[in-house]
Amino acid sequence: MAVLRIDGMVDPHVHLRDLAWAHKATFASETAAALAGGYWAVLDMPNTPPSTINRAALDTKLHTIGATARCDWGVYLGASQADNTGEFAGTWVDICGLKIFCNDTTGDLLVEDQGLRDRMYAAWTSPKPIAVHAEGETVLQILELVRQHRRHTHFLHISTAEEIGFLRAAKVEGLPISVGVCPHHLFLTDNDVSTLGAFAWMKPVLKTANDVAALWDGVRDGVVDVIESDHAPHTREEKLSAKPPYGVPGLETTLPLMLTAAHDGCISKERVVELVSTNPRRLWGLTCPPETYALIDLDATYTIDAAHLHSACGWSPYAGMQVTGKVIETRVRGALAYDGERVLAAEGFGQRVVQH
Ligand code: DOR
Ligand code: ZN
Repeated sequence: MAVLRIDGMVDPHVHLRDLAWAHKATFASETAAALAGGYWAVLDMPNTPPSTINRAALDTKLHTIGATARCDWGVYLGASQADNTGEFAGTWVDICGLKIFCNDTTGDLLVEDQGLRDRMYAAWTSPKPIAVHAEGETVLQILELVRQHRRHTHFLHISTAEEIGFLRAAKVEGLPISVGVCPHHLFLTDNDVSTLGAFAWMKPVLKTANDVAALWDGVRDGVVDVIESDHAPHTREEKLSAKPPYGVPGLETTLPLMLTAAHDGCISKERVVELVSTNPRRLWGLTCPPETYALIDLDATYTIDAAHLHSACGWSPYAGMQVTGKVIETRVRGALAYDGERVLAAEGFGQRVVQH
């Protein structure tokens, strides 16, 4: 059996829930899913109520995640339409970056005013990244702010050929940016909505085969720096309701899907390692603790079965897909945290990531 070792995998874009949305999932359940997916650390988004936009909400989250996470973690501060720039300096030390939702999605954080975004860029003097949800023309608006303020900006879940074109040009220009793409935008298309229904609903929505091809080009040629899951569990009941929320789980399927692409000759294994580990660690300035890695059996082929996943939501848009590449062990600081079947790390074992 061919075994691949990947040191310190990081997913810099997850929505772990808990707090007022503990009925969807908890820090304990979703960090178990992260370890089963091979991850050392995850960076949690601020849109779970109470939104992480001020010191009090941040303290609530830090207290709960610190007591219950099983893998290492960081949390973002969210930008608020009510202008919370006054919170920036007082929270820098405790957060992994700023998240600005520039287009509509789950939760109630949305900053559409370019003037306010400009003030946020001016106020953000920390070297920690600004992560943006920007789609289509909004990407150009954010690039204008990057050009002006030169703050490292990570473009989350890029999903179209047009956006890849904008960002390829911005990299040639030398702007300090990085680009993330999600597995659902690489392995599913808008055609899948007809069979999966709301289980294939997320923001940004699934795109055409032409967009998917452009994303793969970017993944191969280096325009894309990170594969991030945008892990966003919702209950099956919510997804089957009259008004289903956006979001799909992904922590346990990202690496197997990417290694299947490598197995099929679509991308190199070395490139997968960069996308899920070396690049996110470098971009967020994360120090990987010693003896922290995932071991993967590259020859193991299996069918994704929602019943075997650790995420509390209990479903996956990829259920029934065959993948090649199975996580057989995840170690964090020398401790066996996942043995290929069971998560062994206890609640509270996870520590806050160290950023330099
Ligand atoms: O589909 C999504 N779901 N996209 C997002 O940007 C947020 C996420 C969520 O929190 O459910
Ligand atoms: Zn997200």
